[in-house]
Amino acid sequence: MKLRSLVTLLILALTSVSLADDSYTETYETLVDKDGNISLPDNFRDDWTFLGTWSIAAEDVKQSSEASGHGAAGLHNVYTQRGVAAYFREHDSFPDGAVLIKELLKATTAPMTTGIVSHGSEVEGWFVMVKDTKGRFTTNPLWGDGWGWVLFNASDRHTAVTKNFKTECVGCHIPARDDDWIYTAGYSILFD
Ligand code: HEC
Repeated sequence: MKLRSLVTLLILALTSVSLADDSYTETYETLVDKDGNISLPDNFRDDWTFLGTWSIAAEDVKQSSEASGHGAAGLHNVYTQRGVAAYFREHDSFPDGAVLIKELLKATTAPMTTGIVSHGSEVEGWFVMVKDTKGRFTTNPLWGDGWGWVLFNASDRHTAVTKNFKTECVGCHIPARDDDWIYTAGYSILFD
């Protein structure tokens, strides 16, 4: 084999090793621009890992008199890229470039053959967090505490409505501060 082909092979081998190690940093080429603006990916429901659901209990569900007093007012479905859960199980942390998406759904409740049952209906919006272990965007008010933080409303999935994560996000995530601000208890796939 010629020396040049050997060198090419070596370079290819090295590149694929480094890709395997940093596969989530491509987030900073595809979903985050150079100023730190975050986009919502189109394909996460089909291609990403489903982490878990939060069910927001309804104080009084009125859709059906039989269902009254039961059920969920909303469901929150959380997704991340493939491989992130396995990374977390191994390292007990999220990799740089990991993205967590919480999709907000209205819930409908009705009697079914299994009991009084709630299911997700209309999508209301998406909360997105992007892991940043490098402190990339120090002057951008959507970034800090190791994450980028934004909310998209269903009416416009291309424009985030968040202006400042400190006033709009962090306060409510303080109970999860020791788990890197993430409510990990809802995602059993991270632990077994
Ligand atoms: C009213 C309190 C509240 C506010 C405000 C809030 N969060 Fe959360 N967030 C929570 C709670 C509680 C959970 C988990 C349980 C749930 O969804 O009900 C959560 C879960 C999440 C998740 C899923 C990952 C996780 O931490 O478990 C993401 C992503 C998220 N929030 C992003 C954001 C972003 C971005 C903002 C600001 C734009 C924000 N949140 C503002 C309370 C809040």
